[in-house]
Amino acid sequence: MAGLDPLKPAADTLFAYLRDVIYDYPRAKLDVSRLPEAFADFGQGLQYFGAMLSEMRDFAQELSMGNLQCRPPSRDNEIAAPLKMMHASLRHLAWQTQQVAKGDYNQRVDFMGEFADAFNEMTKQLELRTNNLQRMIDEKTKSVVELKNAILKTMAELVEYRDDVTGGHIERTQRYLGILIDAMLARGVYAEEMASWDIKLVSQSAQLHDLGKIAVKDSILLKPGKLTDEEFESIKQHSVVGEEIIEKIITETTEREFLEHAKLFAGTHHEKWDGSGYPRGLKGAEIPLQGRIMAIADVYDALVSNRPYKKAFTHEEASNIISESRGTHFDPALVDIFLSVSDEFEKIALFYT
Ligand SMILES: [Fe+2]
Repeated sequence: MAGLDPLKPAADTLFAYLRDVIYDYPRAKLDVSRLPEAFADFGQGLQYFGAMLSEMRDFAQELSMGNLQCRPPSRDNEIAAPLKMMHASLRHLAWQTQQVAKGDYNQRVDFMGEFADAFNEMTKQLELRTNNLQRMIDEKTKSVVELKNAILKTMAELVEYRDDVTGGHIERTQRYLGILIDAMLARGVYAEEMASWDIKLVSQSAQLHDLGKIAVKDSILLKPGKLTDEEFESIKQHSVVGEEIIEKIITETTEREFLEHAKLFAGTHHEKWDGSGYPRGLKGAEIPLQGRIMAIADVYDALVSNRPYKKAFTHEEASNIISESRGTHFDPALVDIFLSVSDEFEKIALFYT
């Protein structure tokens, strides 16, 4: 899965460099040769700006300490030029002061207005460039996030195309999940567990809950009739395989939060409250909350959808089945939440039929 998010390490490198340029410039170092081609120009531009800023800052620091012998920056641009002018003015002022000390009272200063203008121009330019950099960081971050979401969606759809004859399962379960989470937040159910959740991230990560189906054979996944015990065992593997794939991605990326949620969704959405689920037979609150919520969203969608082996149940029938499984298949507190918002589930189910 090394190709999942190839631009992420490069973007991280650039962002770290930008932060160092802005806040900790002596540490700012960037090896452009290690960046992918898409970032090469951007990286080179940044490197030039970083080096220039670093040189300006060294020079300004020397000036602020009163060292008028320091060498002005070699580059010539809208930041360096005023700094050089200030340097020349200060040197001239020092020379004039020495002349006064020697008794030459004819000395007059007539450049302090220009000095102030130069100083103000320099700080204005620095401010402008720093703001531009921040904007560049924001834009790049946005594009990397968009890229990541597009890759995720594609992965989820790849699974769906193989498995779901009616289509839209992933999108619907994501919406059902959102309804349940909103209602839980509104009623303060499991509020403590969800306090640290980034809800948008959690909802996106749910798309990968059936990722492990990639590894299940078509002949089993699409079989219209009843599965043999052996075939059912093979289907059950999808939760563990999903976990393993996501775990592998986790080792190759710095972004963990999203994937940790995804791993829990994939690995525990078929566990049951009474311990009769799979793959581990977890019981009650041993089942991560992500898996307990997804269980309801996933089963509701399966019930109200046509499948090769069964016709769709009505919304009422599906709600009754979920209600009857309160405390056996499903977390009782979450069934209560479901029943309180089941009309919203129905609207979504109807929208897709
Ligand atoms: Fe599943």
